Amino acid sequence: MLGRLNHVAIAVRDIAAASNLYRGTLGAQVSEPEALEEHGVTVVFITLPNTKIELLEPLGADSPIAKFLERNPDGGIHHVCYEVDDILAARDRLVNSGARVLGSSEPKTGAHGKPVLFLHPKDFNGTLIELEQA
Ligand code: CO
Repeated sequence: MLGRLNHVAIAVRDIAAASNLYRGTLGAQVSEPEALEEHGVTVVFITLPNTKIELLEPLGADSPIAKFLERNPDGGIHHVCYEVDDILAARDRLVNSGARVLGSSEPKTGAHGKPVLFLHPKDFNGTLIELEQA
């Protein structure tokens, strides 16, 4: 069911400083920040030869990553995103096997304009998993 690793997401307090760190110190290719109001985050993508890194900064009062940054004041790995060919088939298979899908369990449009779902970290070794339709 699982395809490629689409990205690893890192929550940060200051996306400009984190972008400079990746662009300057690490010499990576970093996109311009994009505000995603409906997801409560500002995102930047760092393109690596085999995958991407997504930097997330809280946007707005009730950002879904605000609590994470309270617990991890230096920032930290927030989720991993795996590609699937058919997100509805993947969801049905997961739900049938007892895994919990966060939210309404209907896919939302993610940062790349493709349908995404998030899976409960308690069902997956303490890791928040995002599934994105390839
Ligand atoms: Co993501």
